[in-house]
Amino acid sequence: MGGKMKQSEAGPMAGEDFLQRCRGIVGPGNVITGQDDMAPYLTDWRGRYTGNAVAVVRPATTQETAALVALCAQARVPVVPQGGNTGLVANSVPDQSGQAVVVSLKRLNRIRGVDLVNNTITVEAGCILEEIQNAASDAGRLFPLSLAAEGSCTIGGNLATNAGGTAVLRYGNARDLCLGVEVVNAQGDIWDGLRGLRKDNTGYDLRDLFIGAEGTLGIITAAVLKLYPLPKAQVTALVGLQSPQAALELLSLAQETCAAGLTGFELMSRFSLDLVTRHFPQMRIGLSEEFPQYVLLEISDSESEAHATGLLEALVSEAMERELLGDAIVASSIAQSKALWSLREHITLAQAIEGKHVKHDVSVPISRIAEFIRETDALLQEAFPGIRLVTFGHLGDGNLHYNASAPEGVADDVFIQGQEAINRIVHDSTHRFGGSISAEHGLGTLKRDEIKRYKSAVELRMMTAIKSALDPLNLMNPGKMI
Ligand code: FAD
Ligand code: MLT
Ligand code: ZN
Repeated sequence: MGGKMKQSEAGPMAGEDFLQRCRGIVGPGNVITGQDDMAPYLTDWRGRYTGNAVAVVRPATTQETAALVALCAQARVPVVPQGGNTGLVANSVPDQSGQAVVVSLKRLNRIRGVDLVNNTITVEAGCILEEIQNAASDAGRLFPLSLAAEGSCTIGGNLATNAGGTAVLRYGNARDLCLGVEVVNAQGDIWDGLRGLRKDNTGYDLRDLFIGAEGTLGIITAAVLKLYPLPKAQVTALVGLQSPQAALELLSLAQETCAAGLTGFELMSRFSLDLVTRHFPQMRIGLSEEFPQYVLLEISDSESEAHATGLLEALVSEAMERELLGDAIVASSIAQSKALWSLREHITLAQAIEGKHVKHDVSVPISRIAEFIRETDALLQEAFPGIRLVTFGHLGDGNLHYNASAPEGVADDVFIQGQEAINRIVHDSTHRFGGSISAEHGLGTLKRDEIKRYKSAVELRMMTAIKSALDPLNLMNPGKMI
């Protein structure tokens, strides 16, 4: 099964004639070719990869997208789909060959409709996540996908990476929130799979193939998403603890106490928060003393504010009794809750400002997380004495961002030369613990080769067979993921 994939070759039409035809499809103002104008589309969010392109093309409709992809297929021009360009594994920018077209979906940004009885919203791929959350809220519903990049990432990118974020514990990841997709395939055909059905067993699940495919099989142009009732109340608390093991015990207790009401459970090591307050001093908040670990937890309630607060108080007092907690700050206003979440959401930015670092996005069975951290910390400290670990993430999903910064006094550029060795320790450890080396960010260019170490030959062969069948010319986001 699974033939070798073809190398994409830029055809003779990647010149002026090709560009003219692109202009004919999307209008002259939406074919960008100047280096300065293309620059924001060519470098990834972390500033680690810069590619080149024939052009950045910005279609405004599904039909324009289909005509553009058909033209690229005919001319053998590779296509790099791009939404908000917030991807963290170098999946949304082209390589340096300069042969590809970046297809920016940001003009495809209409909310097509809300169905309050079906509890769904139909949106185009370029809608910004926050705008979808707001549209749902205006309709008296919740769209629960939530992540720190929500002000700039698009739903197309969220689906293409099967994004996770901070509400997976209760609502699932992007895949769980999507009922149907509209797709332009690698040949430029439109597949209207915008079915808002909760049950549909009519063959292979093509929707789920495009979700998480990182744009390697086609372009998602629209989606039907699930909506939920808006909670009546939300309470947030930041608690200090002595260890990841205590955090794990608190998670079990919180699930027993709050059941489905527990909607967020984020672990943050003290060093993660120190980085935030170092680079954003205005975010400092007062805990009575310092702790090695913190958990930000959120309870959503369908009854009332008083009921939610009652649950949180019961949880905190039981946890104090069991000596799991040192200190707790309970947000008493929406502004305070936002300030606590803001601390959590600024860790990525703070670490980026601090300097170059080695990023990991691993998951292990929740029950083994504390042991994973203990063992992997020790291995890293032995190999790289003084290494500064920025450990934070979605503890409730077993998903850690286990990032490594240089020891004090070691230049970042020198430190990241050791990233292969650091990856080996972290990823081998993840694998030993039965985990995944990419829990929510995808593979992109960053982990495309790394994954071959951890997936079986049969799994890799089936993935290659799917890619070859749906994109036989290897034109859709070539070199990413597979
Ligand atoms: P892009 O970065 O533009 O693209 C990402 C991938 O999707 C690429 O492979 C691209 O080719 C493909 N793609 C984009 N649009 C389409 C489309 N319409 N059809 C087909 N393929 C497409 N991720 C998480 O999972 N959880 C988090 O908590 C989280 N937090 C983040 C915080 C910060 C500060 C940042 C910078 C990133 C974070 N991310 C997180 C990663 C990133 O935001 C998500 O992966 C996001 O879903 C990407 O959306 P985007 O529109 O920016 O996509
Ligand atoms: C997060 O949870 O904040 C993100 O996935 C971003 C990151 O890993 O840095
Ligand atoms: Zn995350």
